[in-house]
Amino acid sequence: MLKGKNILLGITGGIASYKIATLTRLLKKSRANIKVVMTPAAKEFITPLTLSTLSENPVYTEFANRQTSEWNSHVELGLWADIFVVAPATANTIAKMANGICDNLLLATYMSAKCPVFIAPAMDLDMFKHPTTAKNINTLKEFGYTIIDAVEGELASRLMGKGRMEEPEKISEIIHAFFISNQVLKNKKVLITAGPTHEQIDPVRFIGNNSSGKMGLALAKEAKKLGADVTLIIGPNKLEPQEDINWINVKSADEMYTQVHKNLKKADIIIMSAAVADFKPKNSSSQKIKKSNTNLIIELEPTKDILKSVGLIKTKNQLLVGFALESENELKNAKDKLKTKNLDLIILNSLNDQGAGFEFDTNKISIIDKKNKVDNFELKSKSEVATDIFNKIVSLQK
Ligand code: CTP
Repeated sequence: MLKGKNILLGITGGIASYKIATLTRLLKKSRANIKVVMTPAAKEFITPLTLSTLSENPVYTEFANRQTSEWNSHVELGLWADIFVVAPATANTIAKMANGICDNLLLATYMSAKCPVFIAPAMDLDMFKHPTTAKNINTLKEFGYTIIDAVEGELASRLMGKGRMEEPEKISEIIHAFFISNQVLKNKKVLITAGPTHEQIDPVRFIGNNSSGKMGLALAKEAKKLGADVTLIIGPNKLEPQEDINWINVKSADEMYTQVHKNLKKADIIIMSAAVADFKPKNSSSQKIKKSNTNLIIELEPTKDILKSVGLIKTKNQLLVGFALESENELKNAKDKLKTKNLDLIILNSLNDQGAGFEFDTNKISIIDKKNKVDNFELKSKSEVATDIFNKIVSLQK
């Protein structure tokens, strides 16, 4: 159920920490990827070794790993996580979270995480009742975080009252419910093209470009996160194939065309992010062309426009998204492409934007819809760009 989901567990210094071993086991059984970040105080209650063994990942407690002299990046941890669950959350950590105090790795990760955050308070009843705790918890709710409310029962002090951390089984259920409610593309099939195409001149030379396929992969991962069945048709690339994505490697525009049309009928959403070569050699030489051939002229012919061919036959239930990479008259050209290729959305990349384009991990886009509404976005990581694109797609599905 949680296969491929990245869950970051944040443990603070409360006795309920020992229960996170059970939570880790439950989430691992559901096939989630687990990483753990602990405050220094949490190590008094449960060892990092226990949690690294159960999570099958290193546990992060300090900003720097003193043995390897490596930096534990709170930013990377925050970006890795699909959700961040702080459990148990002590009164002290809750107060710091509510007030922006950032004196350990867990708090720095919390402040840089952009994913949903779940907080499970755990403390003695009077601490829980204290007006500052109530106020801080309210502040966290107002920030948009989810509080997994503490429950009544016997506390470590042997007193009875509210302050016990919710049981790991219940926390696991809440996490499952969150991912189920997020599966807005469940039962939908998403077809994505990505990467460059290589048009062979001879057995060793080709016409191509520097597209990395990273934007297409980020789109595929986002679609997967939303519960879709995903097919990625991708040109030559250096990416790691993902086992939960139907990954189809192709080389040339012709091969991409064939695979797209083979998979088109059943697709509900089609996104063409590939940087398809626009031209191919009219005749590809079966032997390596010798350099003695001093006055070489390679005659080119256009490749098939895959996006246009899909636009011509798409049904009214299929949503078609194209990309446009432009260097001048960006908006006008993109709007024209939207119309001539019969698209529902076009994603405009400008070659004039720093940090946007082929080999970067970031991208800066505008999304244009059929009503000519333009949404402009900041420079973001490609996975955040993928989220923006799917937010728009999902809004059109309603
Ligand atoms: N595309 C395609 N097949 C091609 C060329 C492009 O499917 N043979 C798709 C791309 O995947 C992208 C969109 O068309 O989604 C726009 O590509 P782009 O290169 O910006 O535009 P072109 O239509 O090729 O026009 P031009 O190069 O003249 O701007």
